[in-house]
Amino acid sequence: MKSFYITTAIDYANGSPHLGHAYEKVLTDVIARFRRQMGDQVRFLTGTDEHGQKVQASARQRGVAPQAFCDTISAEFRAMLPRLQITNDDFIRTTEERHKKVVRRLLQQLFDQGDIYRAEYRGFYSARQEQFLQEKDRNPDGSWPEIFGEVTEITESNYFFRLKKYQPWLVGFLEANPDFVFPRFRQTQVQEFLKEELNDLCISRPRERLEWGIPLPFDEGYVTYVWFDALVNYYSAVADLPGVWPADYHVIGKDILVPPHAVYWTIMLQAAGLPLPRHILAHGWWLQRGAKMSKSTGNALNPLDLVDQFGSDAFRYFLMREMNVGQDSDFTPEQFLVRYNSELANNLGNLVNRTLNMTNRFAGAAVPVSGEPRDAERELQALWARTGPECVGLCEGFQFHTALERTMAFVTATNAYVERRAPWKLGKSTAPEDQELLRTSLATMAEALRLAVALLEAVMPAAAARINGVLGYTPGPVWRDELVWGNRLAGNRVAEALVLFPRPTPPAAAPAA
Ligand code: MSP
Repeated sequence: MKSFYITTAIDYANGSPHLGHAYEKVLTDVIARFRRQMGDQVRFLTGTDEHGQKVQASARQRGVAPQAFCDTISAEFRAMLPRLQITNDDFIRTTEERHKKVVRRLLQQLFDQGDIYRAEYRGFYSARQEQFLQEKDRNPDGSWPEIFGEVTEITESNYFFRLKKYQPWLVGFLEANPDFVFPRFRQTQVQEFLKEELNDLCISRPRERLEWGIPLPFDEGYVTYVWFDALVNYYSAVADLPGVWPADYHVIGKDILVPPHAVYWTIMLQAAGLPLPRHILAHGWWLQRGAKMSKSTGNALNPLDLVDQFGSDAFRYFLMREMNVGQDSDFTPEQFLVRYNSELANNLGNLVNRTLNMTNRFAGAAVPVSGEPRDAERELQALWARTGPECVGLCEGFQFHTALERTMAFVTATNAYVERRAPWKLGKSTAPEDQELLRTSLATMAEALRLAVALLEAVMPAAAARINGVLGYTPGPVWRDELVWGNRLAGNRVAEALVLFPRPTPPAAAPAA
């Protein structure tokens, strides 16, 4: 059976991880966990992008050798993963020999078959973007846009990859595969981009200008352009593993879709005769007051501060609940607190507390056997019968924010059901009918909680495990079976209490001025 192979972008090893980097890992992890729940054999890759001008410059600035610099930063990215409960199977660094060897092999193949050629290049170069510029990149007034930093005119001999030759193929491929990029409107952007003729891609940098890269196998006087090196990571990490390539999803930010992933990478693979990834998922950006969160603008949030303060489940929940995958979203500490308090502490936390409390008080800490469902129970079960399948479908289409909203609506409905049945009143009556209704209401709320937890597990794995733990419940091996209403908890002994989402301790939640 072929693995479901999913990757994140590999992060530049030139600064600390911020919220945007963390989001991409969490999103990919939620997809990976969801696919595992659905029965797929998942392979999940992430890593760091360590060559090129930016990394070399950052290392120089700090007066350390590039390799030592990358070791430190890469370790920092790697250390973040378990703190976010990321279940990657592998972590690739582009400075590893297993990667460099595959890049060299690919370059040699493309050179031998004539898809890489040498030519004289004269033109403008942006060191910040590590990119040759064209006239169309200029502002209307002739100046260069700020994102390029200092632009210099250079003449040099370089190696080029024949992008243009493959342009008609790529146009046809995208027409034939309208679902290649998610969301669809991003694929349209790729197609728009391809309406202009492509230039061949300069894939070399002379050693005098850039030392820190993979030397070209056919000319040691040059190193490989960082994108041509970095993109190969997805393949180099699994080149020797049978049944993994191609990737099912490359999860990336919208800024690196066109041209790197949708144009360079697809053409590189096609030229090399390798299968293409099945899909690219381009997510949006986390913004702060409308501006992209990034190291260079200095508005980046350290994700681990939020994890320290609220725990990684709440952090993951917020990212997935707030962001409509593909769109941008503004991050505000206020909104984080609102969701934390109202959806997690009050809504879900409250249902957990009530279930434990009342089962202890009225049923000797053992979940009772339910009596015949009546109207209130039937209504809640009917809501579940819609919610479960709907959420599975939403997750299949990456609509996690809506799936979480529906799940929480089911938790809200369960809390309302508890109010309606008022077990605390039933518990005071000795009438057999009230006693049966009491047992039914305790069994119903516990079962509803178990079901909501099954839906929340991919997003909040630790919280899900803790709730199942206090319900004395071990989920079975087939996740979809777990979504069936079945009074599975009857007879289980429950714990006394569980504090899941404690009131946050102040300072770090304060918004930056
Ligand atoms: N090294 C390249 C990717 C090479 S993939 C073969 C790179 N690195 S990055 O560190 O700048 O960004 C890594 C990922 O984080 C990208 O997918 C990028 O879109 C994402 N994010 C960086 N800032 C972001 C936000 N503010 N919000 C969401 N994600 C963003 O690009």
